[in-house]
Amino acid sequence: MTESSKRLAGKSAVITGGAGGMGRAMCLLFAAEGARVAVLDVQAAQGRDVAAEIGSAGGEAFFIEADVSQSAQVERAVAETLGRFGRIDILCNHAGTLLVQSLIETTEDDWDRLMAVNVKSMFLMTRAVLPGMIAAGGGVIVNTSSISGMTAAPMESAYCTTKGAVLQLTRAIAVEYRDKNIRCNALCPAFVRTAHGLREIAALNALGWDASEQGIARLQGRICEPEEVARAALFLASDDACFVNGASLVVDNTWTAAS
Ligand SMILES: NC(=O)c1ccc[n+]([C@@H]2O[C@H](COP(=O)([O-])OP(=O)(O)OC[C@H]3O[C@@H](n4cnc5c(N)ncnc54)[C@H](O)[C@@H]3O)[C@@H](O)[C@H]2O)c1
Repeated sequence: MTESSKRLAGKSAVITGGAGGMGRAMCLLFAAEGARVAVLDVQAAQGRDVAAEIGSAGGEAFFIEADVSQSAQVERAVAETLGRFGRIDILCNHAGTLLVQSLIETTEDDWDRLMAVNVKSMFLMTRAVLPGMIAAGGGVIVNTSSISGMTAAPMESAYCTTKGAVLQLTRAIAVEYRDKNIRCNALCPAFVRTAHGLREIAALNALGWDASEQGIARLQGRICEPEEVARAALFLASDDACFVNGASLVVDNTWTAAS
């Protein structure tokens, strides 16, 4: 593959939650496709490892430790990225977390924390990145939602609410900024083999919801691998998806089609 035939040649990308799981897979794939990558995460050691792995493979990346639910940290991270790369063409709002707990047991703090990490973070990051994208003539935003934004599961009322909010935020950004040449789409994965996904599977099984290997096979054939979601993110981030805007792409091997 020549440099210019790479699908993200010449682009600069920011990926939140890039230290592990699907975010890490997106960082590696986007860099392999020619993007310069800023890896944002709260996990510093793993985040630095991802940036170093990209560097060893001949790509360009750096890590910024940032809690993306905190506006000052978001502003600092975006300013640092613009200082290093000069522009941000692609923003992947991937960072997020999970709560598997009944609604009755969910405290106000639990609720506020989940909304902050899963939804407010996307508002803060997008608000910080948009002015530069508009000034540069356009950009692409990919927000990680979940099939839990479309279908509800027991013990996940707060989580499902955050993921539904991400879908609506995605549509609203797309509608508001379409005429600035900005596309914004959502990814909706099912169970993926990441720390988050394995924690969710274990918690649901412990509560008696069938997320066994057979249960997962019934819903989605098998567990999804992080790289499979990264390839869907690459499609949305690349010019191949130039007329896809305001959409939600399920990556679930029929789970939602059958429900
Ligand atoms: N794994 C699944 O089965 C699954 C399915 C659907 C959607 N998702 C979504 O994927 C995301 C989780 O990613 P993953 O599955 O790759 O898991 P993961 O736990 O491996 O990765 C999540 C990353 O986000 C980072 N992060 C969490 N809070 C942060 C914060 N406040 N600031 C900066 N970084 C933060 C973590 O440190 C971690 O590196 C969430 O948005 C989740 O809703 C996961």
